[in-house]
Amino acid sequence: MERKQFLRSLGAGAAFAIAFPCLGACSQEDEVEGGNAPVPSGVDFALDLDAPEAAVLAKKGGFITKNSVVVVNNLEGNFVAASQVCSHQGYEEVRFLDKEGGIFYCGVHGSRFEQSGKPMNKVDASPAKFLKVFKTEVSGGVLRVFE
Ligand code: FES
Repeated sequence: MERKQFLRSLGAGAAFAIAFPCLGACSQEDEVEGGNAPVPSGVDFALDLDAPEAAVLAKKGGFITKNSVVVVNNLEGNFVAASQVCSHQGYEEVRFLDKEGGIFYCGVHGSRFEQSGKPMNKVDASPAKFLKVFKTEVSGGVLRVFE
């Protein structure tokens, strides 16, 4: 059966629904699972920098996510950490980008943040008004991430 014949056999309503499944109802939020997660609090954990889970942190610009925190070896070779949960709608989509000197970015609605957590989007254009950042310290090959 040809596609055209198939659609005709379904009737106009079904054919329209198949041809335009997202018309007027879909948004970017529909395509990303999650949302409404709480921004992490009481953060205090340690990472063994020699462990396989931390291997990517050996190179500048490398990052991992752990306990809803993005842990980064920034482009200067310093460890920084921020919430993986975006303060806009609570999606765990914040990541590190090695652009513009190294920034945090939420791909759900495009919020960009300095490493300090300050929004970079134009005033009134940034959906998220802040990004929670955490302290880091290295001692004996162990990275501590804490508030
Ligand atoms: S959830 Fe909207 S910008 Fe991050």
